[in-house]
Amino acid sequence: MPNETIKVKVPATTANMGPGFDCLGMALELYNEIHMRLAPGKISIQIEGEGAEDIKRDENNIVWRAAQRVFQEVGFNNPGLWIRLINQIPTSRGLGSSAAAIVGGLVAANQLIGGKLTQDRLLALATELEGHPDNVAPALLGGVVISVLAEGEVHYLKIMPPEGLNTVVAIPDFKLSTHAARDVLPQKVSLKDAIFNLSRVALLVGALCEKRLDLLYIAGQDTLHQPYRSSLVPGMQEVIQAASQAGALNVTLSGAGPTVLALTNSGSEEIARSMGQAFENAGTSCQIKLLRPAVEGTKIL
Ligand code: HSE
Repeated sequence: MPNETIKVKVPATTANMGPGFDCLGMALELYNEIHMRLAPGKISIQIEGEGAEDIKRDENNIVWRAAQRVFQEVGFNNPGLWIRLINQIPTSRGLGSSAAAIVGGLVAANQLIGGKLTQDRLLALATELEGHPDNVAPALLGGVVISVLAEGEVHYLKIMPPEGLNTVVAIPDFKLSTHAARDVLPQKVSLKDAIFNLSRVALLVGALCEKRLDLLYIAGQDTLHQPYRSSLVPGMQEVIQAASQAGALNVTLSGAGPTVLALTNSGSEEIARSMGQAFENAGTSCQIKLLRPAVEGTKIL
């Protein structure tokens, strides 16, 4: 096997998009790079950028674990690795950093062994490692992806984000683990809430396909997770309200939070300013980024 260094670039993702809990996500133009080469018997992990101070550099590292999953799948033994991570995606903020690590690790390792696994198999492995497909699918494929997990397989459909659709993300300066943000959710929901969400997620997908940006406000609402998570993100409701008043098409918690994401098609600077101000008023410091949807997913450089 040639000892070349594989380099891959993986986009950030926003999951749920409001009502599409665990089944809808969109890739964003903010990237992590993963460089990987075989280093028999070794585990060497270098990290630059986001997470450099706290991401694990041992066999618990997510990129390492994802790579090992690929090697296990094809029966490749003694797969020591040298890995370099150049991270732009903030960790534990609801922007798909763990999905990027998993997908990047899988794709890079697969490339190292000559691309033996199909994209669909990589997606199934990514979902197995992450637990749900809504971040890993757009991280791998780009665009907006609807995904359904059934009997270990992911059935998906990628749709292109409408032309001119942009996002403003307000990223609080604190971490929120997905585990903690799922712990606050009820295990049972009412029929009324189920109908509320399924009618909106159907409308949301249709609105994106038909480029009906005017429908995004109603279509992006949620009762299944956001109301329960708002107590974990001081200022979340105020930021959603401020961005809506400033002209955002729709505003949601990004993934499990704490990032709040506004969909926009104009006035992004003003929307960004209002979101920053609302978080600040609630005592939550944050950074703001204007990000375009990423049409392409993970790329081998
Ligand atoms: N759908 C997931 C959640 C995304 O909201 O918990 C975060 O991983």
